[in-house]
Amino acid sequence: MSGRIGVLISGSGTNLQALLDAFAEDEAVDIAVVISNKADAYGLERARKAGVSTVVIDHRGKNRRVFDAELVQALRAHQVEWVALAGFMRIITPVFLDAFPGRVVNIHPSLLPAFPGINAQQQAFDAGVEVTGATVHFVDAGMDTGPIIAQGTVCRHEDDSANDLKARILEMEHRLFPMVMRMAAEGRLKLVDGELVADVRTNESLRLGGQLPVA
Ligand code: GRF
Repeated sequence: MSGRIGVLISGSGTNLQALLDAFAEDEAVDIAVVISNKADAYGLERARKAGVSTVVIDHRGKNRRVFDAELVQALRAHQVEWVALAGFMRIITPVFLDAFPGRVVNIHPSLLPAFPGINAQQQAFDAGVEVTGATVHFVDAGMDTGPIIAQGTVCRHEDDSANDLKARILEMEHRLFPMVMRMAAEGRLKLVDGELVADVRTNESLRLGGQLPVA
């Protein structure tokens, strides 16, 4: 039985694309459905091109719990086991988290706990840090606060614009997220008493260095 992943998006979906590409030929990992809260999210087009089911659930005019219940229903209808938040711009409630305990994962463009929230890359740039990066973490009820699974560091170059830095962080995200979601779908990631338990293979690392060539 393959590990079935549901991906939630709100926008362009380059991380979704990295997941679609990574698992296209993989029988053990399946992107079962892509759900967007925005009908015009380009990621929906990426999913359709890859032959993956799409669902749009508009959040407007609904309270959060009702919206989350609709998300859960759609994910369950597609027999999803793990949920990947890939640029999903909504805070989720316990209604959602309780439906997938320890199985909701988010990608964030900074080295958490530094620079949570929106525009994390710009926050890091403005703070003048020399090293930033990307984090994949379990989702809890807070904003970018759940237990960290994996991080990749990205060095700021002297002549970097904020956009250069953002682009390099995004490349790191595209390496990190498929690696983690593969581990999740293969049953090699667990949250036990709030702590990460991971079965890491020799060709994997939960700490990627920004100096390494992009795989
Ligand atoms: C990424 O930077 C991700 O870390 C953040 O939202 C952005 C989504 O980008 N959560 P994309 O839609 O995957 O291109």
